[in-house]
Amino acid sequence: MTTPLYYVNAKPHLGHTYTTVVADCLSRFRRMLGDDVCLLTGTDEHGQNIERAAAALEITPKQLADRNAAEYQKLWARLGIEYDQFIRTTESRHYAGAAEVFKRAFDSGAIYKGEYSGWYCISCNLFAPESNTPPNCEVCGRPTERVTEESYFFRLSDFQQALLDHYEKNPKFIMPVSRRNEVVNFVSGGLKDLSISRTSVKWGIPVPGDKNHVIYVWFDALVGYLTGIGFGAENSSEQFHKYWPAQIQLVGKDIIRFHTVYWPAFLMAAGLELPRQVFAHGWWLKDEVKMSKSRGNVIDPHVLLTHFGSDAVRYFLLREVPFGLDGTFSYEAFIQRVNGDLANDYGNLVSRTLTLISKNFGNLMPYPSAIEGRTSLDKEVEATALATVETYQAHMGNLAFSNALESVWELLARANRYLNESAPWALTDNSKERPRLATILYTAAEVIRIATVLLTPVLPQSCRRVWEQLGLKIPLKLQRINEIKWGGLPVGSSLGELSPIFPRLDKKIVIEKILQETGDEATVKDPELERPSTTSHPKSAKIQPVAAPASEPEAGRNGPQEPKITIDDFAKVELRVAQVISAERVPGADKLLKLTVDVGSEVRQILAGIAKAYAPESMVGRKIVIVANLQPRKMRGLESNGMLLAASVGDEGRPVLATFLEDVPNGARLK
Ligand code: MSP
Repeated sequence: MTTPLYYVNAKPHLGHTYTTVVADCLSRFRRMLGDDVCLLTGTDEHGQNIERAAAALEITPKQLADRNAAEYQKLWARLGIEYDQFIRTTESRHYAGAAEVFKRAFDSGAIYKGEYSGWYCISCNLFAPESNTPPNCEVCGRPTERVTEESYFFRLSDFQQALLDHYEKNPKFIMPVSRRNEVVNFVSGGLKDLSISRTSVKWGIPVPGDKNHVIYVWFDALVGYLTGIGFGAENSSEQFHKYWPAQIQLVGKDIIRFHTVYWPAFLMAAGLELPRQVFAHGWWLKDEVKMSKSRGNVIDPHVLLTHFGSDAVRYFLLREVPFGLDGTFSYEAFIQRVNGDLANDYGNLVSRTLTLISKNFGNLMPYPSAIEGRTSLDKEVEATALATVETYQAHMGNLAFSNALESVWELLARANRYLNESAPWALTDNSKERPRLATILYTAAEVIRIATVLLTPVLPQSCRRVWEQLGLKIPLKLQRINEIKWGGLPVGSSLGELSPIFPRLDKKIVIEKILQETGDEATVKDPELERPSTTSHPKSAKIQPVAAPASEPEAGRNGPQEPKITIDDFAKVELRVAQVISAERVPGADKLLKLTVDVGSEVRQILAGIAKAYAPESMVGRKIVIVANLQPRKMRGLESNGMLLAASVGDEGRPVLATFLEDVPNGARLK
């Protein structure tokens, strides 16, 4: 099983955490079914992306890679990720393997030398989108030049039919089905050969036998899945033969094309087996757009870990959103899950059951009545628990983590209701009722035991604590989910020391504290973040709002595209020319300017997150472009009636206003 290999241009954020938490949960689940799992993760350390990020920090790419690879490892340790292999693409064990795959594909005739041509900005070192006439550079505005670079090409076009055949013969190769259809449509539309080497980039693995070229970073990184388990130039290791092909490769939807089109084609060309399945998940959004460093809207997982602990983070990521779909992060929703699900439903059931056992049975697990002494209610709870084991496994098998957890929560809710219905606390003073009391408490404790086994892949630390409190000595990890039976609690055994597992949090206080610590307040309400931003390319810029770009800048014209919108979609956005009449800062919000603008037929107030780049006085009289039909919204108690357009430039997302070189009347519509 693999996660993607993460770029080391920056520290990990919650989006990266997601793929890895999912992989860890799934591998723990499979281990608890008795499977032998090898979980591979790692870092993707070459390419222009990293070269430039390092240059901006005035350190070498290797120094940056070392720093951020360590950040990933530190984060995985805090999250309790049990990976078996961590491959860094700058390791020597990787170099030999990457060159070998390139060589094999070359020898099979799938790679040829040609020329790569495009509009290039000399000062920014950046290709501009293809067009018939030279476009100006998206970043600095200077004219671009036609540049032709020698490059090795991969004959992707030759693999069209083989790929389509593979998708057809292996209907589960790409999951979920919606993604599969997307890829099939894309490949059916025809494939262009892919440039897989660069002469302008130095930070990479040399093409075997041609030192002027380095291997394209995606080719290099994908091969990391092989080298991480011992694929090499000479004899590949036993481990490689044992674990390749991967059963499942987990990726985000932004990199599905690399994994289901390029990657299988590379493997076919090199005569290697294809992974059994690539499963793509959705994105974590913040303020409606994909969380990413270039947008500045990331959630730092360490902040969550410090305030809530690793199990809460894991639980929220897996429970809140059905796997495959996008999800929105908010602290409110997070704390709601911690308080409602973990503290109330699970934590409370554990604490009230075990406290009653401890007080009434001298801390020993009580003897339940024999079957004939049990009520239909007791039997119903037992049946629900066993049915849950089945439902849970079916959902986990389909990677429907949220549904799997929901089924366990239904069981916990049933057990809580069972306690309320049978009210054991009312029986404690009556010695005649002791057998009944024992049966109720044993039944509830047995539900806790079963639920705890099922929850271990998601909440490994907390479940271990519950396990100890139940007084169980057999290691929890050795429990087999597919062998769960009713009645596994040894009667008469001592409970462990009782203490609350999930403390309840005061939502308001915790959120305030986090926002203060992170200085996130402006971010939460910053209109800048409401718009999709630039590519992750540190120097690129784009007029917004636009569809979010592909994740990998070097993919260039060959990279994946966001789904196209129709002209009707675009027509829904009413873009108009407006002139700024007055501008002032908003007290307490250092990014915001309050503008009064003339839109021709009316005067409006707009709040814009541009105060760090534009002094209020420099705005007066300017012609700007606004989205005129946006729903009004309040920020800092002030109404904003529209949104202005700006390019977001560089790593910091510096806004540069969209404007006109010729005079245009106020209110003119942009079409
Ligand atoms: N280096 C490539 C992968 C090469 S694999 C051989 C890459 N790296 S990445 O760091 O940009 O992204 C890695 C993973 O993090 C992807 O699966 C991506 O989808 C995921 N996420 C990054 N931001 C995300 C969200 N906001 N939400 C969910 N996951 C996203 O791509």
